[in-house]
Amino acid sequence: METTTCSHLLGLVVISFILVPPRACGVADTFSKGRNITDNETIVSANGAFTMGFFSPGVSTKRYLGIWFTSPINDNSGVLMVSDTGSLLLLDGSGRIAWSSNSSSTSPVEATLLGIGNLVVRNPGSTTALWHSFAHPSNVMLSGMKVGKDFSSGDEWYLTSWRSAADPSPGAFRRVLDTSGRPDNIVWQGSVKTFRSGPWDGVRFGGIPEVLAYQQGLLEYQMVISPREGTYGHNVKPGAAATYVVLTDTGEVRRLVWDASSRAWQTTYLGPRDVCDAYGKCGAFNLCNVSAAAAAFCGCIRGFGLTSPSRIAGRCQRNVALNCAAGGVGPVSGVKLPDTPNVSVDTGITVEECRARCLANCSCLAYAAADISAGGDGRGCIMWTDHLLDMRYVDRGQDLYLRLAESELPPPPPLALPPPPPPSRSRAFPTGPFIGAVGSLVGILLVAFLVLVVIRRCRRRRPSNTGPTTPDGFIQHTTPAPTVPSSELSSLKKATGDFSESNIIGRGGFGIVYEGHLPDGRKVAVKRLIQSSLTNEGDNAFTREVGVMSKLRHGNLLQLLSYCQDGNERILVYEYMKNKSLNLYIFST
Ligand SMILES: *[C@@H]1O[C@H](CO)[C@@H](O)[C@H](O)[C@H]1NC(C)=O
Ligand SMILES: *[C@@H]1O[C@H](CO)[C@@H](O)[C@H](O)[C@H]1NC(C)=O
Ligand SMILES: *[C@@H]1O[C@H](CO)[C@@H](O)[C@H](O)[C@H]1NC(C)=O
Ligand SMILES: *[C@@H]1O[C@H](CO)[C@@H](O)[C@H](O)[C@H]1NC(C)=O
Ligand SMILES: *[C@@H]1O[C@H](CO)[C@@H](O)[C@H](O)[C@H]1NC(C)=O
Ligand SMILES: *[C@@H]1O[C@H](CO)[C@@H](O)[C@H](O)[C@H]1NC(C)=O
Repeated sequence: METTTCSHLLGLVVISFILVPPRACGVADTFSKGRNITDNETIVSANGAFTMGFFSPGVSTKRYLGIWFTSPINDNSGVLMVSDTGSLLLLDGSGRIAWSSNSSSTSPVEATLLGIGNLVVRNPGSTTALWHSFAHPSNVMLSGMKVGKDFSSGDEWYLTSWRSAADPSPGAFRRVLDTSGRPDNIVWQGSVKTFRSGPWDGVRFGGIPEVLAYQQGLLEYQMVISPREGTYGHNVKPGAAATYVVLTDTGEVRRLVWDASSRAWQTTYLGPRDVCDAYGKCGAFNLCNVSAAAAAFCGCIRGFGLTSPSRIAGRCQRNVALNCAAGGVGPVSGVKLPDTPNVSVDTGITVEECRARCLANCSCLAYAAADISAGGDGRGCIMWTDHLLDMRYVDRGQDLYLRLAESELPPPPPLALPPPPPPSRSRAFPTGPFIGAVGSLVGILLVAFLVLVVIRRCRRRRPSNTGPTTPDGFIQHTTPAPTVPSSELSSLKKATGDFSESNIIGRGGFGIVYEGHLPDGRKVAVKRLIQSSLTNEGDNAFTREVGVMSKLRHGNLLQLLSYCQDGNERILVYEYMKNKSLNLYIFST
């Protein structure tokens, strides 16, 4: 069998099982000059988790050197050795140097495979590595590894895909941490971007909300943004399952987690997930909506429309020219923020200051908070002056604030609510418990009847209640209840501490009810519909509730003060009562 050694750097190869059975030919975790590793031998880290040796991937007959989570390995004639000058050398069958670590030392060196899977070359007794494999990633990112840039030395670490499943030599794809704007993991195919994770928002990469589900209890991200370096990695929490990220030969990014019960690697994340993850799927100033029909994924953002007269798909332009001195900003909520290569970032200011800076700069197109880790509206400032490219709706996405002409602005801010009514009105409950008396039961029945009657009427009138869909498909001017003002999502977030768990006062089938505090000191009950119920049923429930409640004035029902319909959010704001009230429940099953 021909022996071709890997011209690529030491990489990590992942083979099925993580638990290493004791192997006869596995040597200790350390070797040095005079102790060669031949093709029939492996090096096993002291904790048994990682093995290094020669292998043939897939059906390939060629031999490569790799580090993996486990393994059976066969024979052949490659040799890994430590040279006189302190380098690791990989020799092929005829004794030629196929690869060298190029490390050098005048004193003796040894190579140790550490329990985290890192092969380090160092002087015995020293902790300083002359060379280590984590600084030369292949297609896998392990706990403790980092990718990114060292700005002073110019060193850069990134993942490189294999050429194919059976060929570990460098393939078509790279996954690089772009630190030019906000840090973002970009997959490149040659010089073409194919997929990005979305800008780092202080907690995660904004286009991958899934991480919040699997990250807990499993790993912590390590993001370093300093004048010296911009790097990112993850550390597995003590006792958590083994996990790694791999960039496949087809350009997919997968996170795998070892599942001890099924004894298999489970994919917990796979990107790109869908058509909207394909980089720049829609043109500039477009938003990709994966729930939309196949022909209609792309739509212009608020304030933009298709270029007339030809209306070429994807070419979005402002509906109304921006007068720099006038106008304002309007939100595009719940999105993966646009690509950030040409943005200016300032993490040291507040979002309010960011807004002022954007409004004062005629070339500002949009801004967003740079860091939302502390909740609320976040902190810092990302300002776009170029295109807005590669935006999509994501669950729990961030809010982008667009510069808009005055006529394109959303209706004026919300909580200019009607003043509280005089306290003598019968609508106000006595503060004592209000359920528990026979009278209440009668009240419930009466109210339920009343509601049914109104729903019926409302249903008959439904068509006139649903507003038209604009050609862009996204800004749906559905105005369910013209008699009740609408609220900005941002001010409702502010009122409820960003829908903080601690403000929850009730839960129902369609929504969660939060206690909220208005700037004027008034308390309100904020009912946020669960987004997963928002398909049809949930949206109908919302329209129905707004329709019904905006018309009702009844002693046993709370008054609907305002509503908010923004992206995937459907929120109702009620007056607050200590013992809550019927309609929070009537509408929640
Ligand atoms: C590996 O192969 C070499 C030469 O082919 C042989 O000398 C050595 O004993 C073998 N080692 C083991 C552990 O089988
Ligand atoms: C290690 O391998 C090199 C190259 O094949 C050889 O010259 C050397 O003698 C070997 N050393 C040992 C201890 O086997
Ligand atoms: C080591 O140095 C040689 C000669 O300068 C170079 O050709 C080779 O690419 C280097 N190897 C690595 C792994 O950097
Ligand atoms: C995406 O498209 C679907 C289907 O047209 C629509 O129901 C949904 O409201 C859209 N999502 C957003 C956030 O606009
Ligand atoms: C507007 O913002 C751009 C990008 O940050 C900056 O280069 C430019 O100097 C700013 N202009 C003014 C007038 O502040
Ligand atoms: C960033 O700026 C460069 C140079 O002006 C331009 O070629 C590129 O298209 C811009 N990228 C984005 C995403 O706007």
